[in-house]
Amino acid sequence: MSQDIEQLTQRDAEVILHPASSITALLDGGPDMIVSGQGCRVTDGSGRQLLDAVGGLWCVNAGYGRVELAEVMKEATLQLGYYHTFSNASNPWQVKLADKLLQLAPNGMDKVFFGSGGSDANDTLIKIAWHYHTLRGKPGKTRVIAREQAYHGTSISTASLTGLGGFHKEFPLPLDFVLRVECPHHYTRARPDESEDQFCDRLIAEIRDLIEREGADTIAAFFAEPIQAAGGIIEPPAGYYPKLGKLLRDNDILLVSDEVVCGYGRLGSWFGAPLLDMEPDMIATAKGLTSGYFPMSAAMMRHEIWEVLRQGSEKLGAFSHGYTYSGHPVGCAVALTNLMLLENENLVERAREHGAYLHRQLRERFEQHERVGEIRGRGLIAGVQLVVDRATRTLPDAADKWPAKVAAEVRRRGVIVRPLPSVGTLAISPPLTISKSEIDELVDALEQSINTVL
Ligand SMILES: Cc1ncc(COP(=O)(O)O)c(C=O)c1O
Repeated sequence: MSQDIEQLTQRDAEVILHPASSITALLDGGPDMIVSGQGCRVTDGSGRQLLDAVGGLWCVNAGYGRVELAEVMKEATLQLGYYHTFSNASNPWQVKLADKLLQLAPNGMDKVFFGSGGSDANDTLIKIAWHYHTLRGKPGKTRVIAREQAYHGTSISTASLTGLGGFHKEFPLPLDFVLRVECPHHYTRARPDESEDQFCDRLIAEIRDLIEREGADTIAAFFAEPIQAAGGIIEPPAGYYPKLGKLLRDNDILLVSDEVVCGYGRLGSWFGAPLLDMEPDMIATAKGLTSGYFPMSAAMMRHEIWEVLRQGSEKLGAFSHGYTYSGHPVGCAVALTNLMLLENENLVERAREHGAYLHRQLRERFEQHERVGEIRGRGLIAGVQLVVDRATRTLPDAADKWPAKVAAEVRRRGVIVRPLPSVGTLAISPPLTISKSEIDELVDALEQSINTVL
């Protein structure tokens, strides 16, 4: 480690409060310093290369070290390093990017609102749902349904939607506008002998009961990740989204697809919703939009919703919501080039093909493994469910920290996977550029580590 990096590593805990991190662990062990990245690999402070099978935080879809993104960032910065988009100010890049996104997006998405991250995209869509209903004379429709084990962000509103207890503990959260429903995970949530179809029907019946009990006139929207990422890589049973969509439409409740992880190729299609027969009214995206190179989000909505906002604007004037960095010219330029890379290099198709290879390898290695109960996911996202007992589907006790222990061993072998402690799962979501030999390297490291640690 160079002296500079060593000093900075020591200084870190003295000056930084890290997001979603243990302060005591930082004080004991220091930070995990990463200093460079190329392709699917990052280099740590000691100069060791690691295969990043998480793609940063589920976002480096185009891989590290992309010259094209560096060049466009420089070019756009020199041309227009910043200008706001309030009061109808605009820039050419945001218009081109909106056009491109609407061309790719499913289900009649018709307008885009830009922000800086996934939490603000979801926060924006909560406010748009409220505004939409209020403008239509239904101001009582303020509550939002979200699922157990959902992850929608950590701002005050989105941490409330998030259904992972750790994000609420010792905060006055969740706020009471949130209504919680069951996580659609058959493996962990089904009753004994309940088929996938029966499980699906029970979940939909529970949501119907909740709507009847609380009153459709109090509910604005239902937020759902097509595949729940941080909650354990969970895909609902077949038929769930079409049934949910009908129920919500019948009750004038908007369906929001949180595609912050699933969007931009992760599942082997541009967006998760069409793949899972979900017909959202609005979509939140971020992360893969710029492959993480620039903090950027895009929230999209159907024409009917924008039309209500337009009519509202006749009496209200401004749509009073926005961020300093909405429609950032440099961020939009980076996103445009990133989408071009995904297209020109067929990375979405590649995610489908190499994703199928990844899942095949994981299934072959772990099908009969006594410590692995389920392999989940699609495309280049996968969850490996650790179990104490396969037969009874007993999950490990969170206090035993199995996912963290396995991830540490995998890391010792030169590969990064993400532990999801509350659900006893290891998450994998590499750059979409990952090769088959890198997938083999990842699966080998995972198998050896599980065998070593558990
Ligand atoms: C599905 C989903 N939604 C929203 C977010 C929040 O995004 P951000 O951390 O950019 O605010 C995340 C972050 O991981 C996410 O996974």
